[in-house]
Amino acid sequence: MKGEVFLQMRGIKKSFGDQVVLRGVDLVVKRGEILVLLGGSGGGKTVLMKHIMGLLQPDGGTVTLEGRVISDLSERELSWVRKKISMMFQSGALFDSMTVAENVAFPLQEAGVKDPDELARRVSEALKIVRLEGQENKMPADLSGGMRKRVALARAVVGEPCCVLYDEPHAGLDPVTGDSIDHLIKDLAHDHGITNVVITHEIRSALRIADRLVFMKDGLNYWEGTPDELKASKDPVLVNFVAGHSEDSDL
Ligand SMILES: Nc1ncnc2c1ncn2[C@@H]1O[C@H](COP(=O)(O)OP(=O)(O)O)[C@@H](O)[C@H]1O
Ligand SMILES: [Mg+2]
Repeated sequence: MKGEVFLQMRGIKKSFGDQVVLRGVDLVVKRGEILVLLGGSGGGKTVLMKHIMGLLQPDGGTVTLEGRVISDLSERELSWVRKKISMMFQSGALFDSMTVAENVAFPLQEAGVKDPDELARRVSEALKIVRLEGQENKMPADLSGGMRKRVALARAVVGEPCCVLYDEPHAGLDPVTGDSIDHLIKDLAHDHGITNVVITHEIRSALRIADRLVFMKDGLNYWEGTPDELKASKDPVLVNFVAGHSEDSDL
């Protein structure tokens, strides 16, 4: 049901060698919401996101998905998680030698779908969701930056996940194209009931799309609240972050 706890992280700790990145993060993701993760560069947001779908295992703490602990599952057992959660990576990299359709079909083929009709149907549905109907035969090189991002998003939703993770989906986009990504994320949440976790530095987008925001600092979840609460906050850490990441002053 919308609003129930979908995923819960408790006391997540992660180090790489001597470098402590996460010091005990607590995070709840609710079904159907758009949760935005904010924080300084290098603060561990991507590392945290990778724990959500089992790409990294914590040194301490637990990740629970729909009531089941997933932070100690083997690669094979994780296929259950990967069906539910997909990730649009920071680079959003497409295979340049493959058509749009082949790029979008890739995760389905990896999952063992072979029937050409089913592949074509599901690719076309995914392209429709990202408003790229009929672009199946284009090559990535022929697309604008915004369209490439949308193909990457189509690839993330083609397996019909119930949750999509976005690592800086606005990076490298002009504001208008960034806005179109915001609309798509909202469509996925509101029309398709998908749960969304978004890392972004675009404060304007973050405030517009988020149901809730979590600010990470020093390897911990430092603050959490709604867009209105963030705008009203007098905490100098938050005020500075917002001011430093706002191109426009229309907050
Ligand atoms: N696989 C890895 N091996 C070693 N260090 C890593 C690895 N992944 C991330 N780090 C380090 O963890 C820190 C946090 O990285 P990251 O989560 O990417 O930050 P951000 O908040 O910008 O997304 C960085 O210092 C990064 O170099
Ligand atoms: Mg990152």
